[in-house]
Amino acid sequence: MPAATGDEVLRFAQDDRVESAVPDTALVNSDLQSALDEARQAYAARNPKSFARHQESCEAMPGGNTRTTLHNSPFPLTVVRGEGCRLWDADGHEYIDVLGEYTAGIYGHSHPVIRAAIDRALNHGWNYGGRNANEAKLAKLVADRMPSIDLVRFTNSGTEGNVMALAGARVYAQRMGRTAATKVMVFHGGYHGGVLYFVSGGSPVNMPYEYIVAPYNDIEGTRALFSKHGGEIFAVLLEPMQGSHGCLPGDLDFLRMVREETRSHGITMIFDEVMTSRLAPGGLQEKTGVIPDMTTLGKYIGGGMSFGAFGGRRDIMELFDPTKPDHLPHAGTFNNNALTMAAGAAGYGEVYTPAAAQELNDRGEKIRQRLNAICQREKVAFQFSGIGSMMTAHATSRPIRTAADIASGSQDAKELFFFDMMAAGIWIARRGFVALNIMIGDAEGDRFVAAVEEFVTARKALLQAK
Ligand SMILES: Cc1ncc(COP(=O)(O)O)c(C=O)c1O
Repeated sequence: MPAATGDEVLRFAQDDRVESAVPDTALVNSDLQSALDEARQAYAARNPKSFARHQESCEAMPGGNTRTTLHNSPFPLTVVRGEGCRLWDADGHEYIDVLGEYTAGIYGHSHPVIRAAIDRALNHGWNYGGRNANEAKLAKLVADRMPSIDLVRFTNSGTEGNVMALAGARVYAQRMGRTAATKVMVFHGGYHGGVLYFVSGGSPVNMPYEYIVAPYNDIEGTRALFSKHGGEIFAVLLEPMQGSHGCLPGDLDFLRMVREETRSHGITMIFDEVMTSRLAPGGLQEKTGVIPDMTTLGKYIGGGMSFGAFGGRRDIMELFDPTKPDHLPHAGTFNNNALTMAAGAAGYGEVYTPAAAQELNDRGEKIRQRLNAICQREKVAFQFSGIGSMMTAHATSRPIRTAADIASGSQDAKELFFFDMMAAGIWIARRGFVALNIMIGDAEGDRFVAAVEEFVTARKALLQAK
């Protein structure tokens, strides 16, 4: 999407009619497209400094962007400060942050315990070219909490965790004599990083594996693929709840079926819990009781620093044991980065304790129930799917169980929701994604619910099922 031109900005800047989150003229609700145009213009008019930053970014980055997710039209806002559960943008607006850095920001901003751990690490220097004391500590915390993980290795991102897990699973299959197993099963709607993207038909920059893309939550369809291709598959990679695709929880029977089929074919089952590990003390694997062979992690476990991990059963992970003669290499300058390890050990060990995980997810569950009750009361084609502290808005009245249910939603209505939330001081993803952080208390939760209620009631005419 090209940056807005100077003319467009002038047009936006002249349009300063809209003061409140949702304009109350009947005119703007006459049709969805006009409401959306108006909301976009109001957004641009309110954010001239962010627009100027965006123009600067365009000078040396394609489309002003270095992280595709953070692009939105007409231009993304620049954040200048975060504190507690709040953010401030370049134009001085304050937001309650319900996006939580797409799940990495579970601790809110500048959590004192994590801050102190980073300060301590800084006091001792941070580029040793050697081991540091916190890496074993963080590894032990992870292995103790995640049922499938006997041994773990750290990476710099969730993407890299998935890349390494697949590479390990492939060699494991070969060494087990499954030499014909050259394919990976993934699921439509799965997101495992920028090079493992299966959300809307895949991506030309995906890792060059042979993929079998199966239908998520479709037991019969997926079983049929196992029957046909079981011998060719070395790994199945899936999220126990698809996050980026719209917080689509995996049905328990579906997850159990994948476990059963992978076990009977000797396929390595990899749970991508980069996002979902936060949903219970031991991740969704603990909550569902479906225990994979390998698990990948990322996001908040690094305390807000760059982080990823892959781990699993001892016999698989021992492939990477450098004391073994035929071990697999897994290097990485920043795998044990001193700041990440310090922030991670403090955050996962002292702050996001099992009790804190329970509390945050209970809070999220209650908020999602309140939001859905409002949508039902107002009889709008709008709802929130998810589990615990993660949820996504969908502009449809169909129950959210499959990719088709998600596709049935109106993208325009969802975008309007984004602009109305931003105008109401709620920092949310353009795709309607919410990941609560532990700094959000009752008052902030109530404000979020009130903003959604205002959206649903004021925009009711635009949120009717087609
Ligand atoms: C389920 C899942 N896996 C992997 C990733 C990739 O993690 P990273 O962005 O740290 O590479 C993400 C990121 O959003 C994710 O949601």
